[in-house]
Amino acid sequence: MDVHVVILAAGKGTRMKSALPKVLHRVAGRPMIDHVRAVAQVLRPRSTTVVIGHQAEVLESAMPRHGDITFVVQEPQLGTAHALLTTEPVLRDATGVLVLLSGDVPLLSGDTLKRLVERHVSRAAAATVVTAVVDDPSSYGRIVRVGEQIARIVEERDATSAEREIREINSGIYAFALAGLFDAVRSIASENAQKEYYLPDLVAINRRRGLVVETVTVSNPDEIRGINSRVELAAVSRIVRDKKTAELMTSGVTIEDPATAYIDRDVTIGADTIVHPCVSLEGNTTIGTGCEIHSGARIVDSQIGDRVTVFNHCVITSAKVADDARVGPFAHLRAGADVRAHAKVGNFVELKKTVFGAGSKAGHLAYLGDATIGENVNIGAGTITCNYDGVKKNETVIEDGAFIGSDTQLIAPVTVGKGAYVGSGTTIRQNVPAGALAVSAGRQRNFEGWVEDRKKKQRD
Ligand code: UD1
Ligand code: CA
Repeated sequence: MDVHVVILAAGKGTRMKSALPKVLHRVAGRPMIDHVRAVAQVLRPRSTTVVIGHQAEVLESAMPRHGDITFVVQEPQLGTAHALLTTEPVLRDATGVLVLLSGDVPLLSGDTLKRLVERHVSRAAAATVVTAVVDDPSSYGRIVRVGEQIARIVEERDATSAEREIREINSGIYAFALAGLFDAVRSIASENAQKEYYLPDLVAINRRRGLVVETVTVSNPDEIRGINSRVELAAVSRIVRDKKTAELMTSGVTIEDPATAYIDRDVTIGADTIVHPCVSLEGNTTIGTGCEIHSGARIVDSQIGDRVTVFNHCVITSAKVADDARVGPFAHLRAGADVRAHAKVGNFVELKKTVFGAGSKAGHLAYLGDATIGENVNIGAGTITCNYDGVKKNETVIEDGAFIGSDTQLIAPVTVGKGAYVGSGTTIRQNVPAGALAVSAGRQRNFEGWVEDRKKKQRD
């Protein structure tokens, strides 16, 4: 049977108090609507339609376009039933099941979605609602049952005080039989506290018509938590992170303080790596085995090898660090930094678009940009590649075994040959041949007794 997915994301998200559309707010590093789209894939849908409205352009351009996805604009936004109606032109001729997901309910599991469709199909239902029993049902629609049977859903604002006591809530996730669906939705009225067209009203309408309405109740209510405010955003992010750190610890990673480890969903970490408190590992980062990542490190979209030590307060973005390397404290590896095996990048060293060869060392205070640095090179404190001439970026090459003395400026484009030696305080403007010594500082002059002479003059 065909499954068509619709994701509702047109609402303003008033309670977020944000210029950004609600569903683009990030849950554990990814826009919440990405979580929803990803989980919908387990259903192998024939089509996916996203209903957008408030800030439609922002939302459409922010969403990655892989796969078959149609956007429909709901304008104005008159409620969830009205939102579903806007998909009619796209789904008019579709048959089978429509699975309706909410862009602001990001933790739903694939298993629940499969269970929803199975139950819906096996009972030949007109509608099946995913529900949960929660401790605090406030702000959710309540499931009103007559006997075992779901009779209707009532929104918090429209509920009597007795109905507000009901702890079984509507997740906002449903399966609907497509046959006759849009006609039924059209019959929904907006006679309620918000003067909106409520999709949950379809339950009562179907029941009145003698159609089958089913429910699927999730055992873990965290799954269907909706995000309406930033407090809920933080709470849901916490759930995702807790799950991630638990998975990592189970697979052999030590996380000293899971409460302050911010590890995005797609990050992978090898066994016996130790993650200290207050570490952020983001995006598509991979970390090998036996590493140690100290407090204050932020690693984004980077590949870290095995047995690497990242000392405190490093920022590593779109970079690679190979096996047995040591980085930091306070190092900054920017896009295209490629630190090879056993290399050492020390404090206040910044690397950008630079290969830093195996076994090479830059212990302190250096900027290396647009450079290719060979193996076993020594970069002294205060070395700077002057890569930018005001117009374009130029390359610096430092070949294997070279020694760059402290406080050297390398005015690119320039090459320092194999094993060459650059004296401290040198400004390199021309290539240095292999094995040569380069110095540029003027001869030092000492003026004996100068200090005493000056004092004497001031007294006179
Ligand atoms: C909705 C349900 C409620 C359920 C809760 C679960 C209704 C009337 N109520 O309430 O029973 O317990 O979800 O989280 O459906 N949207 C549109 N167009 C609109 C209005 C909303 O696309 O005109 C989208 C929103 O962007 C959001 C989703 O629909 O993604 C739900 O809307 P929201 O206003 O958050 O509904 P709730 O009050 O949470
Ligand atoms: Ca909501």
